Amino acid sequence: MDYKLLTKEKLQEELEAQKKIYQEYKAAGLKLNMARGKPCKEQLDLSMPMFDLISSATNLIASADMRNYGEAMGALELREYFAGYCGVQTQEIMLSDSSSLNIMYDTLQRAMQFGIAGAPPLNSQGKLKWLCPVPGYDRHFAITELFGFELIGIPMDENGPDMDLVEHLVQNDASVKGIWCVPKYSNPAGIVYSDETVRRFAALKPKAKDFRIFWDNAYMCHHLYNDDTPLLNLLNEAKARNNEDIVYTFGSTSKITFAGAGVSFIIASKKNIDYLAKLIGIQTIGPNKINHYLHYLFFQKEPIDTLMKKHSGILTPKFELVDRVLTQEVADCGIMSWSKPKGGYFISCDLMPGTAKRTVSLARECGVVFTPAGATYPYGKDPQDANIRIAPTLPPLEELETAMKVFAVSAKISALEKLI
Ligand SMILES: Cc1ncc(COP(=O)(O)O)c(C=O)c1O
Repeated sequence: MDYKLLTKEKLQEELEAQKKIYQEYKAAGLKLNMARGKPCKEQLDLSMPMFDLISSATNLIASADMRNYGEAMGALELREYFAGYCGVQTQEIMLSDSSSLNIMYDTLQRAMQFGIAGAPPLNSQGKLKWLCPVPGYDRHFAITELFGFELIGIPMDENGPDMDLVEHLVQNDASVKGIWCVPKYSNPAGIVYSDETVRRFAALKPKAKDFRIFWDNAYMCHHLYNDDTPLLNLLNEAKARNNEDIVYTFGSTSKITFAGAGVSFIIASKKNIDYLAKLIGIQTIGPNKINHYLHYLFFQKEPIDTLMKKHSGILTPKFELVDRVLTQEVADCGIMSWSKPKGGYFISCDLMPGTAKRTVSLARECGVVFTPAGATYPYGKDPQDANIRIAPTLPPLEELETAMKVFAVSAKISALEKLI
């Protein structure tokens, strides 16, 4: 039944019925967490054979002695492997330790303190702005909020951010210094930027010479199905336009091998990498090359695409289950739409405006924790109070089904209360 077509009496009846269902879930004493996009145990188990490749007898002397200081750019073997995988040159990639978010933070911290491209440090330039496609990744927004940027929300459609608005702001306002992008299977809506969007990014002529695109390719190979929507390589597109310094690309194996114990990297023009390497060379004598080399050995046996097919075998049923439960429970009520991503880690739900916070709080009272409503918007404030990010990867299927039913009944109660 479409709730918007019901009389007040019918709405009241339906509210009572849904409250009964809700109370049954509440009485079950559930304790489920759907808040963050973590890989599940079965996914992490896929990479355990990595440890069978190393023992005290393993030769860790290859392009360098992986056990010793040095090689600030990371183990050459893995740099070459990633460069081939990502379609860039080895000199354009620098490896780090486990977290790409850490590199993003550090890259911005350096820009704040030391500047970019010979421009004054960002923290000496007064009030600055940062563009944030929405809905987006809360940890991105938190970094630029911490550094004091004014965060400007940029609407997205199925092709990526509104490029008319991006071009207008970037090309006319010198206080706009950057933009966050998750170009493939965006967090949370699962959008893959179209070729035209990537080409328009590549062709940007910023008013500020120290403007940078932070291209977070966290889900570059995280397909749920056979990949039928490839992403253009922004660095190469920009290079073809002599504009290659405009972009930093980030990525990691957090959701390929081990979250928190994988390898992260930054890809950028040689000029950008050389500048970063100079600064990083003062910060550290080098990253964990043993882990780099171990990943290299592992990917020789288990290439990334083979491994990711196994991940999708575990994850696709979870994404399909969420879609099935929402279709069964709420599709007819006219109170919610949701994304049907072909990859990545999230499903984005748009509820009846003004009901997202109430839905998350009802679910929490029932023992099911979702990402806080508003988290997908700058400053944690969704102007519509409508968007909720679902992270289906961590829980086992049975728990996921229960959690989604609690989500559905909570959304129905919130919508009915609002309509009444
Ligand atoms: C878009 C995006 N970027 C980065 C990260 C974190 O990456 P890392 O583990 O490499 O720090 C996440 C984790 O959820 C993410 O969704």
